[in-house]
Amino acid sequence: MCGIVGYVGDRDALPILIKGLKKLEYRGYDSSGVTFLEDDRIRLIKKKGRIEVLENSLKELGYNTDFGHEQEKKICLGMGHTRWATHGAPSDENAHPHLSDRRHVCVIHNGIIENYTELRGFLIEKGVRFLSETDSEVAAHLIEYHYLTNCNADLFSAVQAALMEIEGSYALVVLCTEHPDLLIAAKKDNPLIIGYGEGANYIASDIPAVIEYTRNVLIVEDNEIAVVRRDSVELFTVHGQKVERDTFRVDWDAEAAEKGGFEHFMMKEIFEEPSAVKATISSRIRSNRIVLDGFPLNRDRILKASRIHFVACGTAYHAGCVGKNIIEKVCRIPVEVDVASEFRYKDPIIDENSIVIIISQSGETLDTLAAMREAKRRGALTISIVNVVGSSIARESDYVLYTAAGPEISVASTKAYLTQLSCIYLMAFEMARIIGRIDQAEYEHYLDELILVPEKISLMLEKQSEIQRFASEHFNAKSIFFIGRGLDYFLSMEASLKLKEISYIHSEAYPGGELKHGTIALIEKGTLVVCSLTQDRLLEKMISNISEVKARGAVVLGITSQDKENAIRSCDEAFTIPPIDPILAPMLAVTPCQLFAYYMAVNKGCDVDKPRNLAKSVTVE
Ligand code: G6P
Repeated sequence: MCGIVGYVGDRDALPILIKGLKKLEYRGYDSSGVTFLEDDRIRLIKKKGRIEVLENSLKELGYNTDFGHEQEKKICLGMGHTRWATHGAPSDENAHPHLSDRRHVCVIHNGIIENYTELRGFLIEKGVRFLSETDSEVAAHLIEYHYLTNCNADLFSAVQAALMEIEGSYALVVLCTEHPDLLIAAKKDNPLIIGYGEGANYIASDIPAVIEYTRNVLIVEDNEIAVVRRDSVELFTVHGQKVERDTFRVDWDAEAAEKGGFEHFMMKEIFEEPSAVKATISSRIRSNRIVLDGFPLNRDRILKASRIHFVACGTAYHAGCVGKNIIEKVCRIPVEVDVASEFRYKDPIIDENSIVIIISQSGETLDTLAAMREAKRRGALTISIVNVVGSSIARESDYVLYTAAGPEISVASTKAYLTQLSCIYLMAFEMARIIGRIDQAEYEHYLDELILVPEKISLMLEKQSEIQRFASEHFNAKSIFFIGRGLDYFLSMEASLKLKEISYIHSEAYPGGELKHGTIALIEKGTLVVCSLTQDRLLEKMISNISEVKARGAVVLGITSQDKENAIRSCDEAFTIPPIDPILAPMLAVTPCQLFAYYMAVNKGCDVDKPRNLAKSVTVE
């Protein structure tokens, strides 16, 4: 998740690039950069920090970044990037654009080049010097390599040749000093659009960057390459066949455009879950194996730990609760989960054999950071699961496994939770393999199931209107109960928190079998009970629990798999998820719960993205 903007035309490019980047800051904001041609000479300026830092550097160099001020030399072509780090911490060097070794080619890139280690090795052998730690820099050198060796200085062919070798996802824009009239853009699994202007054309990752100049937009599709000049846009497949496609007219206002046409960031982020999960797992599963670069746990180290600990807050804590269940099941090692603010002060039983896994979207939550420091002080090995590259928790932990959720703007965490679960599954399956607690067939079965998750989430999102309708009938509820057994209970905890956070409706999560020991006293006619039924082993027991609450007048919404007919029949209404191995069911069952919380809040007129009393990142105790 980064922002891309490119421009070729009559006007001064720099103000267009800077303004476009500011409009895309929601896609990433840890560093930014621009490159442009000035008298056919390439200029590259990039800076760690917010876009203002880049803008100030440009001003210090004598460039104007506002409209209406003449540039000393006219700049008619350029491109810019605002970054959300994935490979390599935020720094000037790791910021985009990346220039090739012999300064012919410059690229900006969104996505992940999965085979960058191999490509890097190949290019280093050819004598190329790398200046950054990013996967993206590989693209610049690789295109230049083909441009100079086997493509006869034909930029299009060089881009084509490089794309044939790149595995992974990309939205890529390429500028070449010897072709001062064009930009080439390519796309696979990352958004890319072309804006058609008058005497100018634009390239961007998202519409907000160009909406001020044109509403005439073309969506580039996967495996396509666009050749963009001042007065023409040509579209080809990656194999070079010409593609004809109509543009469409954008009628969103600028604010809606930032949210990708959704009313709230939360909804946009729920719809990004398939791509976020895919980005988190796909580069780490290769040829039926999980590949976690530099993973610090071998068989002895895992077995030496008498138990594993999860430490986190809020939604991340709930991911840890699911993690406990998964690791205990597949590794047969005891796991403890603690809320970070409790862990720190409970005199935890931690020593140098302990393994402590810390989960945090922001990587800056003070309670979590302090708990991690306490674990380190006691000698534990600390592994973090973090979304923000280079954040405090990522830096200070012994090993970090990054989630690839991209920036999460809405306070209520949605896609980040799913990517945290993704990392936990990867780690759990890999640990189980390392210590021999699952055999190869079971291991491969889990991986096959995990790989299908993004597609299955997309299928559920197609029928989100079912949840919307249900919420429109129940948003006046005063109190809601979420019940489940096993993994479904931990999922219920997250579902309940989501509802509380954004709709302000009181709710509680309870293990299905525990309700009768007290809380069932609160169930009366019309009480809404949301019930997760994804665990085959526990299904009959849950169905009994549903009968208990229905006998007291409860209305039951079930979240269950479409092949579990008994479960569907036991509820008043059911939202069905695609069939999946029960161990992975939390990856699917949470999305309908997030949608439920969302629509309840929208119906009540709540400020969904900025709920009262809450902050995205809590850096106080
Ligand atoms: C805050 C947010 C929660 C979040 C928690 C942990 O309380 O409001 O949504 O789950 O912090 O945040 P982290 O960034 O550490 O995952």
